[in-house]
Amino acid sequence: MLDEHGLLPALQWYAKEFSQRTGIDAVVRGKEPKQRLAQEIEITLFRIAQEALNNVAKHARATRIEIDLQHSGGECILSVSDNGIGFDPALSSEATSRPGRGMVTMRERAQAVGGHFEVKAVPGGGTQILVRVPC
Ligand SMILES: Nc1ncnc2c1ncn2[C@@H]1O[C@H](COP(=O)(O)OP(=O)(O)O)[C@@H](O)[C@H]1O
Ligand SMILES: [Mg+2]
Repeated sequence: MLDEHGLLPALQWYAKEFSQRTGIDAVVRGKEPKQRLAQEIEITLFRIAQEALNNVAKHARATRIEIDLQHSGGECILSVSDNGIGFDPALSSEATSRPGRGMVTMRERAQAVGGHFEVKAVPGGGTQILVRVPC
């Protein structure tokens, strides 16, 4: 799907399958550049979105997810936000020695293509992950 159709359609396909599997509403919005993104950027953003959605299913107790892809000024921005329970990033596995590696892997994937990864989470207030990569 990703190879043949590009990032946005692949995200839409994955979100639909995810919603059917988990019962969590997942909507995809946004725009990608008319030209196809570099393959490594597409794969990076797709993998990060997959892990973010898995985390929502696993931890968030959310009913809704918004996935948003935008581009401007040579940057592609992916946001995945949920309306779940949120968490305190200072207590997450990235900051402790607990086994989860998802957050670390998302950050490393973004950095490997020259991008940035940010988590905005408030206990009780949902979670947003934001990824910016050059594209
Ligand atoms: N969308 C989310 N909503 C609530 N908590 C989350 C969310 N995403 C991550 N977390 C918290 O951050 C922790 C670290 O996530 P991660 O590194 O992916 O590890 P894992 O999923 O294996 O526990 C999770 O254990 C969970 O407590
Ligand atoms: Mg995880």
